[in-house]
Amino acid sequence: MPLPASATPQTPVPAHGEQAARAGSRARAPGRCWALVPCAGLGERAGAALPKQYADVAGEPMLRHTLRALAALPQLQGTLVVLSPHDEHFEARVPQHAFDRRWLARVGGATRAASVAAGLAALRERGAEDLDWVLVHDAARCLLQPAWVQRLIDAVADDAVGGLLALPVADTVKCEEGSARVEQTIPRDRLWLAQTPQMFRLALLQRALAQAGAQVTDEASAVEALGLRPLLVPGAWENLKITWPADFALAERLLATR
Ligand code: CTP
Ligand code: MG
Repeated sequence: MPLPASATPQTPVPAHGEQAARAGSRARAPGRCWALVPCAGLGERAGAALPKQYADVAGEPMLRHTLRALAALPQLQGTLVVLSPHDEHFEARVPQHAFDRRWLARVGGATRAASVAAGLAALRERGAEDLDWVLVHDAARCLLQPAWVQRLIDAVADDAVGGLLALPVADTVKCEEGSARVEQTIPRDRLWLAQTPQMFRLALLQRALAQAGAQVTDEASAVEALGLRPLLVPGAWENLKITWPADFALAERLLATR
């Protein structure tokens, strides 16, 4: 799909160094925002008849809910959906006309990190540049609300590192010794649960993922491995990732109350 007319080349901005990022300084360097939706998983834990992102929630494929929330944010240049090269469901489950400013790349890999890394390269081909922000959001977090994304953008837009939606842990946290018996209780006062979107500048995130390898389960952990400290921005309990069979009914109940 062609680049939309709104995606004009970015005005050059001074590169801000990693030193500033390490120091946590808040150097304002405006950039465009893009969304990247990794959508190349199999959804094995969800046990649905097809990859979970295409399973219905409240009468519509999960991915359509996700894309609708992102489409409501006019400041996003566009949304790139990363599909598996073997995907057989997208066209049937998500009609092409359903959302504008959306592109597909059939470049998904064997892990989420590989899918995101390949998607970042595809975003560059569509005009994204080093200092542009990329908001990576799981296809499977289909209860996303535009206001939460806006909160993240507002909090991170002038941050030197980037950040993510996350939730302070409410429950007491137990660590097992390997067979569902408690080995220890972990103090929860500084613990957060990572959600998405996670928002980082394109060049930084590409470098972080290249160094971290395919096993990291979110973008922030790759950035942390560079010695940087992403900003934790309060998310929402409802921004859950549909993972287990029971999550579908829960998501439907939550949607029914909106
Ligand atoms: N994902 C991806 N490429 C992969 C694996 C996952 O793009 N190789 C995407 C999923 O489609 C999902 C998001 O990453 O939107 C979060 O991953 P997860 O919830 O673990 O989804 P799955 O890997 O599909 O589920 P499971 O781990 O239960 O198989
Ligand atoms: Mg997975």
